[in-house]
Amino acid sequence: MNNFVFQNPVKILFGKGQISKINEELPKEAKIMLTYGGGSIFKNGVYDQVKSAIAGFNVIEFGGIEPNPKYETLMKAVDICKSEGVDYLLSVGGGSVLDGTKFIGAAVEFEGNDPWEILTSGGSVVKSVLPIGCVMTLPATGSEMNGNSVVSKMETKEKLGFKSPLIMPKFSVLDPECIATLPDRQVANGVVDSFVHTIEQYLTYPADTPLQDRLAEGVLQTLVEEGPKVLADKSNYNAAANYMWSATMALNGVIAVGVPQDWATHQIGHELTAFHGIDHAQTLAIVLPGVMNLKRNEKAEKILQYGERVWGITEGDKDQRIDAAIDATISFFEKMGIKCRLSDYNVKEEDITNIEERFKERASALGEHSDITWLEIGEILRSRV
Ligand code: NZQ
Ligand code: ZN
Repeated sequence: MNNFVFQNPVKILFGKGQISKINEELPKEAKIMLTYGGGSIFKNGVYDQVKSAIAGFNVIEFGGIEPNPKYETLMKAVDICKSEGVDYLLSVGGGSVLDGTKFIGAAVEFEGNDPWEILTSGGSVVKSVLPIGCVMTLPATGSEMNGNSVVSKMETKEKLGFKSPLIMPKFSVLDPECIATLPDRQVANGVVDSFVHTIEQYLTYPADTPLQDRLAEGVLQTLVEEGPKVLADKSNYNAAANYMWSATMALNGVIAVGVPQDWATHQIGHELTAFHGIDHAQTLAIVLPGVMNLKRNEKAEKILQYGERVWGITEGDKDQRIDAAIDATISFFEKMGIKCRLSDYNVKEEDITNIEERFKERASALGEHSDITWLEIGEILRSRV
């Protein structure tokens, strides 16, 4: 097991009715900006619950944060925060609203000339952030309990992430009743995103970490069991609760401690969103099988363990079992309603060159062995047309 330092200070308020408690978490004297997305919170009653909980607080609102939040939009909120003296942010929505809010909080406090540097530096320039509270309405990203944010810049078609412990929310409300109004596509996306987060921290090479392995396998198995139940009936509270907590556990740092990590699938996927606007989870469902296949030898021991423990695959020789594990993964994504080929999204062979060029310029070396360069990335994508 590798050395690690672990600290996660996010307070979680989980369950039915917990939105009503947020007034106990917010400082009475704060000037709050309530941030939200395209309006789902008005249709499902979450906005009304939040407003009644914070009646009497000094609140302004900023809506219109897009899925894959845009730098250009977020900078408008930064200007308003500065002119209005906002000193607390309350994010109400999915991962995009929260990621956008994390960026706003960092950009308001940023002292350099160009706030995009927050992204290009990966977060190292972040020294201070406005405090953030969160009501998470879409289980997927784990953003409610982590220090990550991903922001897109339209001008340059870039999608970059940054990390800082300072952007971790002070508190996050997780009410599984919010799931009842999610479209099928977002449930599918959320389950697959959470699944792939777990895979990226698990499907590498053995590091003698049986507890972390079993925790990761537990998250994967729970998503496999509960995901289809939620898709079949979004008002199934217990299934929604199990899915919601699995999504948080998939990316709150617990399963990551002391183990090697991959993240190649996410980094390649971000370019498919940046260039082609494909949903984040859809990009992962396209790329992951390609990464598993290309790295079948380096990842062999863990793929075999995954196949056996998550999918019960015990028959056949090593290569047959690896193929079966990849097939089972694809079938699960398809069962959730996500298509796994580039051609399903109208991305063609010639589009892959742009993505290769970008990784070539960045001299990227992805994966747990830093051996996935632009050449292998091209190979992975061509195997997924
Ligand atoms: O914008 P509104 O109207 O609120 O609608 C949203 C949006 O259209 C809707 N939605 C959310 N909650 C709903 C709902 N509709 C009905 N009922 C509800 N309860 O769902 C749509 C998608 O929302 P979005 O926030 O974009 O989805 P998600 O939470 O999957 O976030 C995706 C973003 O997170 C980033 C992705 O790259 C992408 O930009 N990620 C963030 C991570 C992190 N911070 O740790 C890690 C991930 O790997 C990921 O990269
Ligand atoms: Zn993800």
